[in-house]
Amino acid sequence: MTTQQGSDDRPRTDSGTEAGADSGTDRGVHERAAGNALLRADEVIAGYVPGVNILNGCDFYVDDGELVGIIGPNGAGKSTLLKAIFGLIKVSSGTITLRGEDITGQKANQLVTKGVGFVPQTNNVFPSLTIEENLQMGVFQAPKKFKQSFEFVTGLFPALGDRRAQRAGSLSGGERQMVAMGRALMMEPSVLLLDEPSAGLSPALQDEVFVRTRQINRAGVSVIMVEQNARRCLQICDRGYVLDQGRNAYTASGKDLSNDPKVIELYLGTLAKA
Ligand SMILES: Nc1ncnc2c1ncn2[C@@H]1O[C@H](COP(=O)(O)OP(=O)(O)OP(=O)(O)O)[C@@H](O)[C@H]1O
Ligand SMILES: [Mg+2]
Repeated sequence: MTTQQGSDDRPRTDSGTEAGADSGTDRGVHERAAGNALLRADEVIAGYVPGVNILNGCDFYVDDGELVGIIGPNGAGKSTLLKAIFGLIKVSSGTITLRGEDITGQKANQLVTKGVGFVPQTNNVFPSLTIEENLQMGVFQAPKKFKQSFEFVTGLFPALGDRRAQRAGSLSGGERQMVAMGRALMMEPSVLLLDEPSAGLSPALQDEVFVRTRQINRAGVSVIMVEQNARRCLQICDRGYVLDQGRNAYTASGKDLSNDPKVIELYLGTLAKA
């Protein structure tokens, strides 16, 4: 079932039907479904400049073991939602909860020690440092973890172990992305936030990123993945959210979203027909 959500000016189907529900019902659906969530956001309002809200009341959750995708047009607030969850911008209203604990307003370094990992959209490696040093940065708050975590990460990404002495700045875009993911995985997080991991990569490398992401998820890490390659993202995720103008627009399983005619028309465009 695809659930349509959001502001009243959106086209919507009859409340409670297979194809959609009104926004009041949707909060109820979220409330009920998110009861045992690992990480959840409720009615989050946030932005960068006082008085200018970018997120206008977002609901979101990820369960233990899930891979959840977030798609939507440029400027929809996808990165902003990840930054709000990870304590990089101020949440002016609403709550973020991790395993039932209110973590709203907690800083990124605190969240990392609580099992939240984040790979930003850009500038996500230290180019002058080697691969190994980049991975060390991932455990700077718990250096004793290095050996065990290095084994875990190089088990997932063997190339990072083989090339541990190479400077990250000399790597290809795809390899850098692996380093960035590897760094975030060094604390062995329970949930990993990925912002556009396939952006700027060749189709073959994009595919590798999706395969790797699924592999990380299968290794027991819950994943929240923001992606511009919406169709591919929906293929691999358990559930997806469409964000539009800082609000939830639709949510459903990845499969249902990618087959929903309204989602195809509004958000998947010609890609969906390819
Ligand atoms: N540091 C910032 N300061 C002020 N406004 C910002 C900042 N970063 C983003 N914004 C604004 O917030 C809005 C949402 O941006 P955001 O980066 O969350 O979008 P997005 O959905 O991730 O888009 P994209 O697909 O292009 O990455 C945009 O209007 C953007 O201009
Ligand atoms: Mg973004």
